[in-house]
Amino acid sequence: MHPIQINRRQMLAASAAGSTQLCLSRRLFAADDLDVLSFVIVSDTHLGRNNNASAEKNWRKAIDEINQQPGDFVLHLGDVVDSGRESQYPFYADTRKLLNKPIHEIPGNHDPVDLFKKYVTAETDRSVDYGGARFILFNNAHRDSHDGFIEGEQLAWLETQFADAAEKDLRIVVCCHVPIHTNKNPDRGWYVKPDNGQKEFYELLTHYTDRTLAIMHGHFHNGIRGWRDHGQTVETLFPSICYNQNRGLTDRIAAGKATGFFVDELRPGYVLAELGKGKLTLRYKPLAADQHGTYAAEWS
Ligand SMILES: [Fe+2]
Repeated sequence: MHPIQINRRQMLAASAAGSTQLCLSRRLFAADDLDVLSFVIVSDTHLGRNNNASAEKNWRKAIDEINQQPGDFVLHLGDVVDSGRESQYPFYADTRKLLNKPIHEIPGNHDPVDLFKKYVTAETDRSVDYGGARFILFNNAHRDSHDGFIEGEQLAWLETQFADAAEKDLRIVVCCHVPIHTNKNPDRGWYVKPDNGQKEFYELLTHYTDRTLAIMHGHFHNGIRGWRDHGQTVETLFPSICYNQNRGLTDRIAAGKATGFFVDELRPGYVLAELGKGKLTLRYKPLAADQHGTYAAEWS
């Protein structure tokens, strides 16, 4: 089923014209009426990487910067530590408290779930509501694979989260470490494969495409990269605060060898996000440097 795409202006215009032809089976939403939410997105801190302190330094620098930035909360999209190091979790648990905004984390494939629950948050699959939006966070990473997995129980739980958000007239943002969107070279080819929950997830999404504004991930270390081909939902990956790698995406998209969008910036950094009033704006903030690179999506 393809969602009906009609915006509020069109609906108002139709009703002003006295149209009796406009028959909607359900209410329609986008970001138009959502008051602007301002938040920060970090990912892939990889504390302990290379057995030196560079990842820790980046994270401490990011905390100092984020405390000076606008935003009501912070999302961390996974891989808190590198290679499952337990010794790094107490450092993370202590330093996350230095943020002057609440932070909500999900595990990545480098985070052993038991350690993540012990040191970071007891529940990996949960939702938080801010303003008119529900942020649904869940763990789709396995330690022994770069692919993502959405289990049957998680799909059932996601369905209740989506339905409850609709009932409460909330827009939806979904966050999980591994992208759900199919990708192949020049991207990494790591995603939720059709038999691992992708098919069922996108089937569920068809019922909520008009209110699901974005699906957010970490994992790729390739800056801001994404697609917008499931309705108007923005599916996007976020930069690592530790390191990013160049996959030649600007040239390959220009040459028609890759689809979707890419912000041409790869320095270690985080993202300043604004969502609402018909728009999602993502501003790349390299550590210790001026903001550089923006992705903006509109709903109309
Ligand atoms: Fe990572």
